[in-house]
Amino acid sequence: MKKTIIITGGAGFIGSHLIRRMVNQYPDYLIINIDALTYAGNLENLKDIENLPNYHFRKVDITNWQQIKDVFIEFNPDSIIHLAAESHVDRSIENPMAFVMTNVVGTVNLLNAAVQQLKTKPDFLFYHVSTDEVFGSLDDGGYFHEKTPYDPKSPYSASKASSDHFVRAYGNTYQLPFIISNCSNNYGPYQFPEKLIPLMIYRILKNESLPVYGKGENIRDWLWVEDHAAAIDLIFHSPKSLGQTFTIGGKNEWKNIDIVYLLCDSMDQKLNRPQGSSRQLITFVKDRAGHDLRYAIDPTHLENTIGWKPSLTFEEGLNKTIDWYLQNQEWVNRVTSGEYQKYFEKQYQGRV
Ligand code: NAD
Ligand code: TYD
Repeated sequence: MKKTIIITGGAGFIGSHLIRRMVNQYPDYLIINIDALTYAGNLENLKDIENLPNYHFRKVDITNWQQIKDVFIEFNPDSIIHLAAESHVDRSIENPMAFVMTNVVGTVNLLNAAVQQLKTKPDFLFYHVSTDEVFGSLDDGGYFHEKTPYDPKSPYSASKASSDHFVRAYGNTYQLPFIISNCSNNYGPYQFPEKLIPLMIYRILKNESLPVYGKGENIRDWLWVEDHAAAIDLIFHSPKSLGQTFTIGGKNEWKNIDIVYLLCDSMDQKLNRPQGSSRQLITFVKDRAGHDLRYAIDPTHLENTIGWKPSLTFEEGLNKTIDWYLQNQEWVNRVTSGEYQKYFEKQYQGRV
């Protein structure tokens, strides 16, 4: 095997796309997926590759030092790509400590394991996957880029900002080779349906009300998840990346309400419903506390240094996403049964 890479959070949304790509693209790498399988992690996401010889899964909670140590001893990795996280802003408002534990303590545990690994593998690489939300909210225009000062505003983004700072501090203090990328909002298959796009798709399908926070005027910059996975792969392999930060985004800003309109109209067509009928489901609900107004990425550094470009238009990506959710209703039903249903009703009732 040419390289042994631990990927954390591989049973989640972005992690599963990255693992599928790496396992298929690099048969001579050994890819180790470590994941605690929280509500957001689902091994079903990787059914198609689970029996390939260059893939292994270990159930590891990154807040547990012993479990991390054991997996590092078992596989003696050359690098780690770290995606495991609590990732939903609304949940971070309800229970910030879970975010501190996984996103901060969990990341520092992995950094400590990486520093120990440096003793025998001085080139050990720590690739940290982060979010553009660490930069705050673009209320007055402009774009996030690699030099934008940190200004996190939600417990989620504060925990991710903290983890980014720890990664750089370990680079400076222990000479740990690292890379950080901060990406905009992702969408695509296997996204847990608590996030805007899959939530709206599955509620339109079930003819249920569509909770739009505030006036729906907040803006997000959306990227097809496989384009994010491709960017991580290219950055990971480029000799120019070491010690660098990259902001990743597809120059694709949308107001929330316009996305909801797009989804309603496209699904009316696909489901043979009268045009305009799904829009009737839109319900404006109480705004998210501290709701960031706008995120938008300037990806010039990534494009110029790495040569990455998004592969799909938003219309193509959204179309593929809707089709996937329509064809995988069993998956949606399974991941949203039980605890999630109670959580969602509680969230929603607090808002109307
Ligand atoms: P996700 O919530 O879909 O998946 C997270 C995964 O981490 C799950 O498989 C979960 O089981 C696992 N996990 C959670 N706590 C863990 C723990 N203590 N130990 C081990 N595993 C644990 O998240 P996602 O949307 O795929 O995001 C992945 C990463 O990318 C995160 O670090 C997130 O901050 C970052 N990111 C996400 C987006 C986005 O739009 N989704 C954008 C930019 C960056
Ligand atoms: P989300 O998918 O939670 O991602 P993030 O908050 O990390 O950007 O939300 C995307 C946008 O959609 C955000 O502005 C909040 C809004 N939103 C709604 O209006 N209704 C919803 O039910 C959800 C989940 C989000």
